[in-house]
Amino acid sequence: MENESRKYDIVLLGPTGYTGRFVAEYIAQYFPPDVSWALAGRSHRKLHELAVDIQKFNADRKPPGIEILELLPERLQRLTRKAKVIINAIGPYSIHGSAVVEACAFSGTQYLDFSTETAWIRDVIQMYDATAKAHKAVIIPAIGNSSSPSDLTAFLLTKHFSQYYGRPPDNIQTSFNMRLNGMSGGSLASVVSVASRYGVWNLLFPNPGFLTPNPSSRHKQLFKRIFGYTFDAKLGHLTTSFAAAGNEAVVHRSKFLRPDLYSKNLSYQEYMPATGVFQAVIIHLVTIIGVLLLALPPFRSLVDRLRPKETGSGPKRELLQDEMIELNAIASGRTNYGSKELRAKYTFHGPMYGHSVLLAAEAAMVLLDRGVDTGLGGEQYGVLTPSCLGMAFVDRLRESGVALEISMGETMNRNGHPEEDVIRYKHSMVVMPRQ
Ligand SMILES: NC(=O)c1ccc[n+]([C@@H]2O[C@H](COP(=O)([O-])OP(=O)(O)OC[C@H]3O[C@@H](n4cnc5c(N)ncnc54)[C@H](OP(=O)(O)O)[C@@H]3O)[C@@H](O)[C@H]2O)c1
Repeated sequence: MENESRKYDIVLLGPTGYTGRFVAEYIAQYFPPDVSWALAGRSHRKLHELAVDIQKFNADRKPPGIEILELLPERLQRLTRKAKVIINAIGPYSIHGSAVVEACAFSGTQYLDFSTETAWIRDVIQMYDATAKAHKAVIIPAIGNSSSPSDLTAFLLTKHFSQYYGRPPDNIQTSFNMRLNGMSGGSLASVVSVASRYGVWNLLFPNPGFLTPNPSSRHKQLFKRIFGYTFDAKLGHLTTSFAAAGNEAVVHRSKFLRPDLYSKNLSYQEYMPATGVFQAVIIHLVTIIGVLLLALPPFRSLVDRLRPKETGSGPKRELLQDEMIELNAIASGRTNYGSKELRAKYTFHGPMYGHSVLLAAEAAMVLLDRGVDTGLGGEQYGVLTPSCLGMAFVDRLRESGVALEISMGETMNRNGHPEEDVIRYKHSMVVMPRQ
């Protein structure tokens, strides 16, 4: 075993699934040839077929290793010790994830996953944060469409706001828009699984401190609670977002992990854009009814019965081409120069499953180059958030097709020049997504 220790840079768990296959293709196409990696799953036949298939992307590249996986503590520890970084694409995480996190926490292996199951992430923090710290493991759940864009945008806004105005912002408001043309069987199973194991309370009454030791409920005005409608002069008409509860909780965990960066009073709110009041109210009501239905066992059984059962099933790839994510955020706060604002925009055009995979794969590369200073000091281990990977992660994403721009809008900067020009010149970078 000793000579097998960390023999792979990356081991991909669940590569035969809908998401896992995207990851395998991404690594085969874009990773440097000296990155050694393995596919880990339960069917040797499926793994072998996949390994042969992805050779078409780069015939000169050494094929990945094949590892047979059993979700048993001892077997998992043996497997995770062979890897520097694990990318876990086996969901639902609330069913299969804890055993893998436990093995990584004990074996000091860096871990990434695609979970959107916020209640499960809270369990992971409670059960494995201390163990991961003790064994120098970095555990980052929620590297996916939902939480990473919100978390990275809030991180970048906070960093630049402090840089320009000498103190972090007090408030960040976000409008999160995603066009998703379909969901995989595994994603639907995860929505059902987390609702049946943990209930829907946190979706109905979001708690921003849910992933910190200091839970606190978000006070919403009665009007907003009933109709879900908000208007912001810069962001426009806004309404309830299904993903907001999880995303707000991840941003607040970042704030908890980085007191050196964020204001302890930072308030972060996330919404979905709407075309007007009527659409905002309809979207809000449909979201609330959907969440209430998820609380009902017969409805969950129905969704479970109707979803594709075979692992690896999901929407046809040609249907995903016009998908996109667009996130607009405004940070504001009182500074020595008066009330100031900074804007950010995060965009990606292309398949949303591909976007998730890009995030996880590039995060794995950052973990492999961990010589980079993350700015986290002694707190760089344990259960972290995507933005804990810092500017190294943001830079890799920008190079891979994510546009993440910061601007100061139309106001003047403190020297009386239009701020937008100054910032755009320095920080904006828009490149095309990888095909
Ligand atoms: N946050 C995001 O943006 C985002 C994006 C994409 C996916 N996700 C999440 O990622 C997860 C995976 O989704 P998916 O649609 O790719 O799932 P999927 O197609 O059902 O694939 C599941 C994978 O897990 C493996 N697996 C299942 N049970 C196993 C077990 N007991 N032991 C070993 N391997 C097992 C399957 O292997 P076999 O082939 O052997 O069955 C398959 O490789 C879901 O939780 C989903 O919500 C999140």
